[in-house]
Amino acid sequence: MTTRPLVVATQETTSDVKFDKTMEDRIADVLRRYPTTRAALLPVLWLCQERFGWISPGVISAVAERLGESAAFVEGVVSFYTMYYTSPPARYVLQVCTTLSCSVCGGRELVDHLTAKLGIGFGEKTPDGSFQLVGVQCLGACGNAPVIQINDDYYEDLTPKKLDAVLDDLKGRR
Ligand code: FES
Repeated sequence: MTTRPLVVATQETTSDVKFDKTMEDRIADVLRRYPTTRAALLPVLWLCQERFGWISPGVISAVAERLGESAAFVEGVVSFYTMYYTSPPARYVLQVCTTLSCSVCGGRELVDHLTAKLGIGFGEKTPDGSFQLVGVQCLGACGNAPVIQINDDYYEDLTPKKLDAVLDDLKGRR
């Protein structure tokens, strides 16, 4: 599996985000597929995260203005979902399933292993910006527990040894 690292466009995630023609076209395309602009909020935010790397306050303001919502409403939605990054993410975000099936099938040991190996807890990044740990609810792959999502990819039936091999491989990539 080739998990691609996340790329953050720091230059464009300042307080004053303006959507370019490409983004406007993509947003318009999303809006055409939903009955109301509010219903399109999640996919529009997802587009923004793909484009900018994270959902900054500037992105929230731009999305709110574009969809005719308040910034407070958009911020409330963003803060509800773990899939949106509210600060620049590490190159690899490890979303560790902490729900029952994974927990009883070795997930708790994986969490202990990860926190010891990386020296960070949930919500934290390694100092070199390589890895970030996030605890999440069921990833919908319980049959292959324990599961960790790294960026867009699922890693299933994990053991500490398999996880070490995955992390070593990712760390070696540029
Ligand atoms: S409980 Fe972990 S994927 Fe469902």
